[in-house]
Amino acid sequence: MPGGKPSQEMLDLLNQAIAREMQVAIQYMWQHVLWRGVKGFAVKDELKAIAIAEMKHAEAIAERLNYLGGIPTTKPTTINVGNTLKEMIEQDKKDEEGAIVLYKQIIAQARTEKDEVTDLLFQKILTDEEEHHDVFTTLLEEI
Ligand SMILES: [Fe+2]
Ligand SMILES: [Fe+2]
Repeated sequence: MPGGKPSQEMLDLLNQAIAREMQVAIQYMWQHVLWRGVKGFAVKDELKAIAIAEMKHAEAIAERLNYLGGIPTTKPTTINVGNTLKEMIEQDKKDEEGAIVLYKQIIAQARTEKDEVTDLLFQKILTDEEEHHDVFTTLLEEI
């Protein structure tokens, strides 16, 4: 590794991120499938678009982890689809909050290790997660 070896902590953080991205990709996809009612109709396309964005995040992080010498996990963290639309979007908002906290931690760790590319990658992903968080927060006001 020309820029120096990543710490085990960094590799573990990236795998935590991948596990979460796979979780929400599947969670939002099933919510997109299981929607019901007029309000569900209004949010289903957004859930689909965000599910696809999360899958792309998982792949981008896995590519970075692979380059850094880690092995990407295949196990998502616990998927919580929810029973009602309100339950679903409340859970999704919480998961975006968790992602934001974790990704700020990864950015801080990347800066400690002078890993500019991981830093930049997570700045981009963090921008998306804040957008998702904003979408779910706004939707919750109407559900
Ligand atoms: Fe994501
Ligand atoms: Fe997200």
